[in-house]
Amino acid sequence: MAEERMLITGGQRLEGAVRVSGGKNTAVAIIPAAILSQTPCVIENLPSIEDVHVSVETLQHLGAKVLWDPREGIMQVDASTINRTDVPLELCRRMRASSYYIGALLARFGEASVPLPGGCNIGRRPIDQHIKGMRMLGAEVEIVGGTVMARARDGLIGGDVFMDMVTVGGTINVMLAAACAQGITTIYNAAKEPHIVDTANFLNSMGCKVKGAGTDVIRVRGVSHLSSRRPYAVIPDQIETGTLMIAAAATHGDVTISGCIPTHMEALTAKLLEMGARVDERDDAIRVRSMGAHRGVTFKTQVYPGFPTDLQQPMSALLCTATGTSTVVENIFESRFRHLMEMERMGARVRLFEQTAVIEGVPQLHGAAVEASDLRAGAALVIAGLMAQGTTEISNTHYIDRGYEHLEDKLQGLGARISRVTY
Ligand code: EPU
Repeated sequence: MAEERMLITGGQRLEGAVRVSGGKNTAVAIIPAAILSQTPCVIENLPSIEDVHVSVETLQHLGAKVLWDPREGIMQVDASTINRTDVPLELCRRMRASSYYIGALLARFGEASVPLPGGCNIGRRPIDQHIKGMRMLGAEVEIVGGTVMARARDGLIGGDVFMDMVTVGGTINVMLAAACAQGITTIYNAAKEPHIVDTANFLNSMGCKVKGAGTDVIRVRGVSHLSSRRPYAVIPDQIETGTLMIAAAATHGDVTISGCIPTHMEALTAKLLEMGARVDERDDAIRVRSMGAHRGVTFKTQVYPGFPTDLQQPMSALLCTATGTSTVVENIFESRFRHLMEMERMGARVRLFEQTAVIEGVPQLHGAAVEASDLRAGAALVIAGLMAQGTTEISNTHYIDRGYEHLEDKLQGLGARISRVTY
């Protein structure tokens, strides 16, 4: 089978303006949420990425009518024709957020059969909290041969769900399940990420009553019928915005990222300022300028509004050329440093201790053949390639395509020398 690789000739300063796409992690939640609507539903500002294409295939497999215009980023979903409630393993393997189909199908049809997501290259991805939440709403949930079989013959009934840890997926899945439950569901220790708020806003736009999204207690008053009334546009991608901000600093560039939400970026902005970069915020744009050499920093990944784990990888790539020693603690996933091991081939100096990476900045990285182990590792290697002297060849580009829309075009537009080759 033909394999694609990304080729980057580093050392080009990125300059100019770039527009951010719609959020991946919102898109993969809002598309299954469309199952809850009794009327056709229009979703706008969706990125044309692999995870969205798999979401379309999943809805079509279930029997929904989907009109998807990837150029315009607009999708129309008519869930009234859904005639099955099982998601095949092949689709679950291609998209980690497939667990949201449990909450959505259970809420609308009282049953769902969805294979477990299993582990992945960034660590374990259990969904015990999702399952606990569904059970608290009265669902019978069993795992048979690696597939979650959930059933609520007489519908779900609202209840109190206390999450043992802050989980983005668990919070969204329970919100979806609770949307059509009888009575009120209260989620304690809820996640606060921007995509939780966006999913809640989408549910509210269909007539649900979700309050408190963005805080750690969310209340959902279920309604028996949800129906879409107007098109809903997903929020801009927080992680793509951050990746482009880091790319600007990494190439000592001057880049304005438009169409973003600067308040979602505070944790990263604070670190870039600490490193010596300049960051200017406008209502819906951020300009990042490098003011010379960057200083090394220390940071820990945390739940929102802390430093996001999804930006740890691109940021730690940038730190490989910052002066002095940087320390990065990864608190969310257990193996999210594989990109740094790859970057050792490019001259990075890194010591890894379980959840901590200690990075000694080097003046210059050099191009090498490297392999992406997951989506954000791929983004980190792109940053590394942009900084390095010579040519970097990144394999496993399919991971990058899962979550970044037109990344090469956007970087080329800013002056990067980046292309794809097929072997
Ligand atoms: N966890 C459990 N049990 C659960 C759920 C989570 O133990 O039932 C643990 C996980 O193992 C992890 C932690 O809780 O250690 C947090 O996991 P969370 O549920 O918050 O992550 P997720 O919902 O699986 C989403 C994003 C990830 C992002 C994390 C953390 C989507 C589709 N994915 O995953 O995004 O890293 O939140 O912010 O929203 C990415 O975009 O590259 C990506 C991996």
